[in-house]
Amino acid sequence: MAIRTEHWWTGCVIYQLMPRSFADSDGDGIGDLAGITSKLPYLRWLGVDAIWLTPIYPSPLKDGGYDITDFTAIHPELGDLADLAELLEQAHHHDIRVILDLVLNHTSLLHPWFQRARWAPSGSVERDFYVWRDDDRSYADAPVLFRHFEDSNWEWDPVAGQYYLHRFLRHQPDLNYDNPAVQEEMLTVVDFWLDRGVDGFRLDAVPFLFERDGTRCEGLPETHAFLRRLRARVDAGGRDVLLIAEAIQPVRESAPYLADDELHAAFDFEITAQLFAALAHGQCGELRHCLMHAQAQVPGCRWALPLRNHDELWLGDGHLVDESVVQTVVNGFPNARGHWLNWGINRRLAPLLNGDPRPNTLLHGLLYSLPGLPCLYYGDELGMGDWPGLRDRDPNRTPMAWTSERNGGFSTAPDPLLVLPPITAPGYDYRVVNVEVQQQLSGSLLNWHHRMLTSRRLLPALRQGGFELLTSRHPSVLCYARVTDGMTVVVAANLGATGASTSLDLGRWSGSRVREVLAGCEFPPASDDWFVYLNAYGFFWWLVGEQGSEASS
Ligand code: GLC
Repeated sequence: MAIRTEHWWTGCVIYQLMPRSFADSDGDGIGDLAGITSKLPYLRWLGVDAIWLTPIYPSPLKDGGYDITDFTAIHPELGDLADLAELLEQAHHHDIRVILDLVLNHTSLLHPWFQRARWAPSGSVERDFYVWRDDDRSYADAPVLFRHFEDSNWEWDPVAGQYYLHRFLRHQPDLNYDNPAVQEEMLTVVDFWLDRGVDGFRLDAVPFLFERDGTRCEGLPETHAFLRRLRARVDAGGRDVLLIAEAIQPVRESAPYLADDELHAAFDFEITAQLFAALAHGQCGELRHCLMHAQAQVPGCRWALPLRNHDELWLGDGHLVDESVVQTVVNGFPNARGHWLNWGINRRLAPLLNGDPRPNTLLHGLLYSLPGLPCLYYGDELGMGDWPGLRDRDPNRTPMAWTSERNGGFSTAPDPLLVLPPITAPGYDYRVVNVEVQQQLSGSLLNWHHRMLTSRRLLPALRQGGFELLTSRHPSVLCYARVTDGMTVVVAANLGATGASTSLDLGRWSGSRVREVLAGCEFPPASDDWFVYLNAYGFFWWLVGEQGSEASS
């Protein structure tokens, strides 16, 4: 098979949405696939390249749909396969790709495989679809992940008369990948969705597929071997499909998923944590180090970069980043206090930043210019708020605010039927913070995102260019270049809460024209001691040289 050099997903901007909370087409209070289809023109206008849908499969919804009872069907509340076909067709028509969440590691307790397993004789293939033990002492080094909900990775099943393993909720038994029949079933699931034309998969919780005693049961060689099988299966279809790993691990542990014959992309949650830490203490030394390290491990644009997602802002137990980094973030954001869930901060971006648009745009300005796949969480383009007090991670999963009308235009259903309450908190009320209002205000956050994504489209160096850190003489200022043949974009960002004057070494481009992209204004020609002033949380994208630039046309 010919080796592809161009992929649709190189440097693509991914918009993550929760189908149940995005747009309700039939007035039952629950968002659905037809609702997403109706919003494709908006997403096209916004400027994203792909949408990632959190799980759309039948589920009792004990874990937001990550507890699945049928991998090859669609939850009836969301629609059916015909609705998905329509969504795919319309999305492709709008030049938007569709990525599904694929949960390989576990099922719902109510999945027929589990019901069959618990009644099947011990040692049978059917029983062995899951991981059973006579006691709860195995894999003692594997941390409990949902530590606010569970205190053990094992649960007693009275029917089977054995304990089963669950790395997440007790409602989510882990599949047993040592059983070849499980591997086959899950590869068949992949085939099923590929046949329907999806463009990629976000592979949920990939590190945990296999378990071995004496380890954390994360990213074991057997897990990588299975992922290589999965990749080969996908490649055999001959389509350009994106496989993206969710592995909440330090880069040294997530890099192996990006071996050439394994997955295409992986989230870099270390950079996410370091971005918030850098902002919290106004220093970017560790962030620089972390960026360098990620590029040294896997150069190029294969790291997916989220600021926030549907989970807590994961900081971890000292494994993902040092405990001192965790403390810096926790102490640096007063609005994080009292919102710790499992291993991180259970807040949306805007309220975490206390509604201040400056750090918000700074973080997105970095996201859109660092090497990788920027991931924008639905509603964050508006600075949408959250609903503290809702159960689990629901504070971050409330309905999208479209208009000032009833339920923020999300649904025509009466309030009590809504999947979750729309935001009415002061400062974030949907009557003010919504798409319709912000589209009409040229200075809104939404229009800012639209302009940023438009600029990014015009600058291939940001999409696929090489990355090089440049020397900055100010501890708060991060400076880097993104370079392709014929285009250089230099970025400087001030992570500090006060203004910063500094000089940058642009000696390599000495004498070249420098033009700021976002404001379109001319700066003095580049030099090795190039003075610049950045406002508190300010940043610039400069086009240096301009040969062959699409932006100059
Ligand atoms: C991933 C998902 C999270 C889910 C968990 C178990 O971490 O992001 O929402 O609860 O996997 O499937």
